[in-house]
Amino acid sequence: MTEHRETAEEALEELSPDEGERRRMQEAYESIRDRALEDLEEYDFEAQVTLVGSAARDTWLEGDRDIDVFLLLPPYLDRKEFQEIGLEVGQAVFPDGRVEYAEHPYVQGVEDGYDVDVVPCYSLDDASEVQSAVDRTPFHPEYVERERFEGFSDEARLLKAFCRGAGVYGSDLRTHGFGGYLCELLVLHYGGFQEVVEAAADWTPQVVIEFQTAERSHDDPLVVVDPVDAERNVASVVSEDSLATLIHHSRQWLENPATEAFDVEEPIPVSEEELRSYVEGRDTYLAAWVFQAPDVVEDQLYPQLRKTETSLVEELERQGFDVIRSHVFADDRATLLVEANVGRQSKVERHEGPPVYVEEHADEFYRKYEDSDDVVGPYIDDGRYVVERPRRYTSIEEFLESDAVFDLALGQNLEREIERGYDVIVDEELTSLLDEFAVELASHLRPGL
Ligand code: CTP
Ligand code: MG
Repeated sequence: MTEHRETAEEALEELSPDEGERRRMQEAYESIRDRALEDLEEYDFEAQVTLVGSAARDTWLEGDRDIDVFLLLPPYLDRKEFQEIGLEVGQAVFPDGRVEYAEHPYVQGVEDGYDVDVVPCYSLDDASEVQSAVDRTPFHPEYVERERFEGFSDEARLLKAFCRGAGVYGSDLRTHGFGGYLCELLVLHYGGFQEVVEAAADWTPQVVIEFQTAERSHDDPLVVVDPVDAERNVASVVSEDSLATLIHHSRQWLENPATEAFDVEEPIPVSEEELRSYVEGRDTYLAAWVFQAPDVVEDQLYPQLRKTETSLVEELERQGFDVIRSHVFADDRATLLVEANVGRQSKVERHEGPPVYVEEHADEFYRKYEDSDDVVGPYIDDGRYVVERPRRYTSIEEFLESDAVFDLALGQNLEREIERGYDVIVDEELTSLLDEFAVELASHLRPGL
């Protein structure tokens, strides 16, 4: 056995649930299914209940405790009935369950310690006829069941845990990484964990894997055409950075196989002392914009925070500030953290006008500023009129505290929270964030792979 294989097998011992665990999961599912079917009998149509996701395909990771149960409802139900029935059945299964909202509402409950999603979908003959976003999901286990090879589950678990260790596991819109089904497709395509990693080490985007000919073009860095739906790219959420991260970790693994590659490293929370010495030692400018996080799911929250972050950084750069790095994180409150090389500037701003030869515009510029008391100039430099006028915002803090923030592209649900009020926290005052964000701050203070 090669060193790589030996290491992978050693890691597998920790990643695979044992017989008892499998039985427990199966029993939990069967009890949920029976309750759902019993409730569905009250309706005058045929419906089914099915297990999907990694629990259905024997690819869940030890300790991962989620079960995805789908209700297959008739395609002729209109949206409203479909949603109502879906919720009603979900709540019959879990009277204490929570209603969650994705494309449509569904119920979350807990069964014997497992986190369970009960999700309605339309029952279809072909996954390309999707009416709701989740309708193709029940086709995935069928496809994997047909194509799986001996030892497939182990290989899928290795790749999933490897991605998790690299911080790029999950198709949610916070991670923008590799989801479970995508990992499984990569294993089917390349033949095993090691083969995926060998291929990934040499990837150059755009990487295209076609289980069937794509019926649409995609401009994503990774394209994996869903074998059950030629229009869909299973890897559409994978960001360029997640792809690059997997490539990096693949090369590391090939060079030096270690079981740590499959471990999740819990970041050490930032201490007050560490934060103070970071701020002093780097002598950069740190500013945190902190407001109440809106009550929406992470898949809605993070895209909005990132959009706001991008807009803020672009605007700060336009104002002459020089941002090194920024981060967003959320708990009860949401924080946009900016670290800048230049976060404070003088009270004046150089403002260049047109070359004096461009008569009309030049005249206009000159006339606008010739009698202004608060500018220096106009004078001529390099053939142009130039003035030095008062700077609007002399620090990032001043910018954030002004109404200018409402001209940023604020996420839909953020605007209201920001209007209600927010804090701007600078440099060593950031220690006041440690109660809530000591772990999240670690990713800023100690970025890495
Ligand atoms: N799914 C999908 N596209 C996504 C997310 C989910 O097609 N962006 C489908 C897949 O069929 C997936 C199932 O929904 O298998 C359940 O999703 P999830 O629980 O996120 O993935 P799992 O494969 O179950 O992996 P895990 O072990 O992480 O739960
Ligand atoms: Mg799952």
